[in-house]
Amino acid sequence: MKKLFIKSYGCQMNVYDSGKMADLLAPLGFAEALDYSDSDMVVLNTCHIREKAAEKIYSELGRIRQEKERMKKSGREMIIAVAGCVAQAEGHEIFARAPFVDIVVGPQSYHRLPDLVKKAANGKRVNGLIDLEFPEISKFDSLPEPKGGNVSEFLSIQEGCDQFCTFCVVPYTRGAEYSRSVPEIHREGLKLVENGAMEITLLGQNVNAYHGAGPDGEVWNLAKLIKHLAKIPGLKRIRYTTSHPLDMDDELIAAHGAEEKLMPFLHLPVQSGSDKILKAMNRKHDADYYRKVIEKLRRTRPDIAFSSDFIVGFPGESDADFLATLNLVKEVGYAQCYSFKYSPRPGTPAADMDSQIPDEIKSERLQVLQELIAEQQRKFNESCLAQEMEILFDRKGKYAGQIMGKSAYMQSVHVNSAEDYAGRLALVKITMARGSSLAGKMIETGEENRYNHIRKIV
Ligand code: SAH
Ligand code: SF4
Ligand code: F3S
Repeated sequence: MKKLFIKSYGCQMNVYDSGKMADLLAPLGFAEALDYSDSDMVVLNTCHIREKAAEKIYSELGRIRQEKERMKKSGREMIIAVAGCVAQAEGHEIFARAPFVDIVVGPQSYHRLPDLVKKAANGKRVNGLIDLEFPEISKFDSLPEPKGGNVSEFLSIQEGCDQFCTFCVVPYTRGAEYSRSVPEIHREGLKLVENGAMEITLLGQNVNAYHGAGPDGEVWNLAKLIKHLAKIPGLKRIRYTTSHPLDMDDELIAAHGAEEKLMPFLHLPVQSGSDKILKAMNRKHDADYYRKVIEKLRRTRPDIAFSSDFIVGFPGESDADFLATLNLVKEVGYAQCYSFKYSPRPGTPAADMDSQIPDEIKSERLQVLQELIAEQQRKFNESCLAQEMEILFDRKGKYAGQIMGKSAYMQSVHVNSAEDYAGRLALVKITMARGSSLAGKMIETGEENRYNHIRKIV
């Protein structure tokens, strides 16, 4: 077997794509390894969302180059591929900055990897990018069946984004919105569950804008798709991410009250609490609209909890605008959040806006916001103390005799148990809340795990 190392950066979609790349390369004799030393092939599946993320790639490439040269001295070749959103955004500039890279391939063309690898093996540099304005036949048609094998799996249902928020590169790196068909998604979901998945997270850059072809010839929305997938026996939990507040339609909100398998946790990024900044960001809604969506969801599903993304220091953000963000966070009360300093991205409108905010101010604001978010997360976790929660166990803990799982709210929970509970949905009483993780005691061990024969906690 040849050694293949794939490293994913960025969002869950990249993690999903990396899995598909591994499946695509397996028939060529590649087996995945945990690091790049001695690898016959290395794929960096990159992210372009912020400058830091993109720049990281070049330092990583520098290190990998040394290994490639070391191998060359002993007569062995290493193929280096740059995939993902940096590849799509920078194209063959990557060959100029890092001439030792063999393949550049984008998010819409990685299904061609086996072909590109064959070409690269003949010592050629291959540009496997496609023009996003003229997308080819869906890459999904060319992807192998999922192998799965994990308790919790991702399933891409929608890709690309038509929203064009003024700070964001995604519409340029992933292209226009595209929804896979319902039967295609259903088939993949069935396969994943057959192979052991009990939780499926439906992925899309703007996942609640989903509008795929249904089996009846009609266009189905996300609510309808979720209800359909929920009928898969053995599937216990459904999640979806990432949603735009504008596309939280009433049918989807109602599904949160009606569909038991849909987890009471929603990542609903708002980015800012200031109407002025939301407008400049082209988010197409104001803060009150967002509050109403949250309110409706809470009315429909009282035990629902939320997370969000925030950007601080967007061009023109005043102290008052930032205060509006803090106030919104206080009002909503999040279970967790991600927050970032605004990073100007080449080619996006916000990068050319006047009144860019100095880095010191961005850092100060980020710190204040992150303290508030951490405080809310701590409170949320503490509110789980002494509660009985259903935990889906999927891995070993840090210490011997510990196993780990996830709550409905995506909290990591560990309990002491010598037994292998992978794939078991067990009832746990929470006895400790610290930082971002919880600990508890097993109360009921749940039904016998029908998947133990294929999977052990590793
Ligand atoms: N589709 C999702 C988010 C995709 S990117 C949505 O609509 O919310 C993930 C997060 O990265 C965004 O929510 C945003 O908070 C952050 N982000 C995107 N571009 C950024 C930039 N230029 N600078 C800082 N953060 C950014
Ligand atoms: Fe980017 Fe999300 Fe806005 Fe689309 S909706 S442009 S992915 S932040
Ligand atoms: Fe990054 Fe591309 Fe995802 S830019 S966040 S890897 S869509």
